[in-house]
Amino acid sequence: MEIDIFTLFPDWFEWLAEQRHVRNALAAGTRIECVNFREHTPLGAGQVDDTPFGGGAGMVLRVDVLDSALRARYGVDPVRLREDRRVIALTPGGRPLDDELVCELAAEPALTLLCGRYEGFDERIIEHFATEQVSIGRYVLSGGELAAMVVCDTVLRKLPGALGHEKSAIEESFSPALEGRPEYPHYTRPAEYRGWRVPEVLLSGHHERIARWRRERSHERGSPGAPGAERDGEED
Ligand SMILES: C[S@@+](CC[C@H](N)C(=O)[O-])C[C@H]1O[C@@H](n2cnc3c(N)ncnc32)[C@H](O)[C@@H]1O
Repeated sequence: MEIDIFTLFPDWFEWLAEQRHVRNALAAGTRIECVNFREHTPLGAGQVDDTPFGGGAGMVLRVDVLDSALRARYGVDPVRLREDRRVIALTPGGRPLDDELVCELAAEPALTLLCGRYEGFDERIIEHFATEQVSIGRYVLSGGELAAMVVCDTVLRKLPGALGHEKSAIEESFSPALEGRPEYPHYTRPAEYRGWRVPEVLLSGHHERIARWRRERSHERGSPGAPGAERDGEED
């Protein structure tokens, strides 16, 4: 898989590339590259943004700057680029990133992530260059870099070879293996601590009973796609 990240802060991603599962994915052939769109601005003095038409606070990322950076990277009109790869504008109001979307993205051969800053993107970037908008939550970050890292982290751990244990990414919260529900609880040694005993079934060595217990706990924790729905059925 190839991931290109368009950002004003490429240094931030050096930390990401050092993390073990990311290093594993890179060693297995994944490529992550950053494009600093300030380096491709057609404007003077490295300008990438401008004041909003209609007034208001903050600065808006310019459409001509992103046009120029995308063209420099791919050698085609960015309007056409959308036919070849998913170009994701990271925005607070975009499609929420969940396990379903992560699996969808992990199946792609190539992704382009656009990190906004300041007041965000000129809307024409979203309308004409992006295939979609993705949000990592209903809150506002100062920039798209952390959101891009969340997308990379969640997507890369789905790729073969990224995790030490392949099974870790197959049966985890919100995965199809758990029918989209939160994962069951885990325990490790000591089996008793301050009088808090690990559930006996987990010490039984009885695989079928353990699997059933885990399924039941996962069901108790929430319904598919509704983390925190453990209050289902409870009365107020
Ligand atoms: C300060 S925010 C802009 C917020 C925008 N004015 C608004 O109210 O929706 C700057 C950039 O951070 C990124 N960003 C902020 N919150 C995000 C979120 N929850 N998910 C994805 N990207 C986010 C986007 O790229 C955005 O363009």
